[in-house]
Amino acid sequence: MSKVVHKSGQTEELKNLDKLKPNKIIDVRGAVCPHPLNLIRDSIISLKDNEILQAVCDHEPTAKENAPRFCTRRGYPLQVIEQNGVWQIFIQKIEKTEPRLRVLNVSKVFKTNHGRVTAIDNVDLTIQEGEFVCIVGPSGCGKSTLLNLIAGLDKPTQGEIWSNGNRVTGPGSERVVVFQEGALFPWLTVMQNVEFGLKLRQVPLEIRRTLALDYLKLVGLDEKFHNSFIHQLSGGMKQRVALARALVMEPAILLMDEPFAALDVYTRETLQEELQNIWTESHKTIVFVTHNVQEAILLGDRVIVFARNPGRIKAEYEIDITRPRKIDHPEVFLNTKWITDDIKEELEEPAYKADTREVVYK
Ligand SMILES: Nc1ncnc2c1ncn2[C@@H]1O[C@H](COP(=O)(O)OP(=O)(O)OP(=O)(O)O)[C@@H](O)[C@H]1O
Ligand SMILES: [Mg+2]
Repeated sequence: MSKVVHKSGQTEELKNLDKLKPNKIIDVRGAVCPHPLNLIRDSIISLKDNEILQAVCDHEPTAKENAPRFCTRRGYPLQVIEQNGVWQIFIQKIEKTEPRLRVLNVSKVFKTNHGRVTAIDNVDLTIQEGEFVCIVGPSGCGKSTLLNLIAGLDKPTQGEIWSNGNRVTGPGSERVVVFQEGALFPWLTVMQNVEFGLKLRQVPLEIRRTLALDYLKLVGLDEKFHNSFIHQLSGGMKQRVALARALVMEPAILLMDEPFAALDVYTRETLQEELQNIWTESHKTIVFVTHNVQEAILLGDRVIVFARNPGRIKAEYEIDITRPRKIDHPEVFLNTKWITDDIKEELEEPAYKADTREVVYK
């Protein structure tokens, strides 16, 4: 006797169960690491539009919680059928909306005195609207290079980047970066820093002031510092201002390059919590680079692990833990361990050398 235990998806539902003809069947029974949902996600990547995946699964939370949440997020129709403690998960891949960001076969080669360095090699990445994607990986694996390319601060040697359906050819106000050191203007006050981009856009003073106040409140910067200069602020406050200055522009994509790396543990945890809240409220699309695996898991819907020499995507993890996430959640601990092991494997590789392979780019 089988029963349908879950139907969901923002688009149409799968109909006529008898006629379900999967294009691909995978068996994820017994999978622990990688998590069954990661195996399912990896199989979906290789499907064409409208094709159906059938996953055979014996992990109840994957069938009843993780896969439905994943499908709701992506808008994929889903049906789950239970049969004697085994779940058949049917997922249809339907890409209806234009993704926020598409990185297509992107490589970046730098010429140095020691030869050519392939900072990133053939990176393919699609990010949907409202996704929070974290990138982790050892030093020098090309994380900042990728972020700079997405920001339009540099150009790829090969490949294309599309943001909101437009090809990226330079910086744009729909893609704003928050750097580790905030990069605030020291000659301006906090309020003037936050208002700066709006002023360039010629937004009238009254409106810019209201918006700046709203965002300074959102990032939790005490009013008594609004007229302070940047050197009068602590590191944590500076990052709050940098975040407010980025958010006030209402960018379609927020790019963050190790924004909390220079902060003490306590301030870092507070800002992580606040960023979780801001994201939950605003559902911004965020690409967040960090060295801290635990931070990536606390924040991200997806964690992308980079490998180096040359920099490339090594693995992707779907992080399907209910928010707000806490450090002591067992799934946070488990995912941290898996991803850290992945990165350690990388660090055991020989030290980074300039890549002198001849690569011909047209
Ligand atoms: N402008 C540049 N000229 C030459 N080489 C560069 C340049 N920018 C980056 N690289 C090289 O590209 C590789 C990737 O650098 P990148 O800064 O993107 O790494 P990362 O993953 O951000 O490292 P970290 O975690 O230390 O910030 C490195 O080997 C670096 O030396
Ligand atoms: Mg970097």
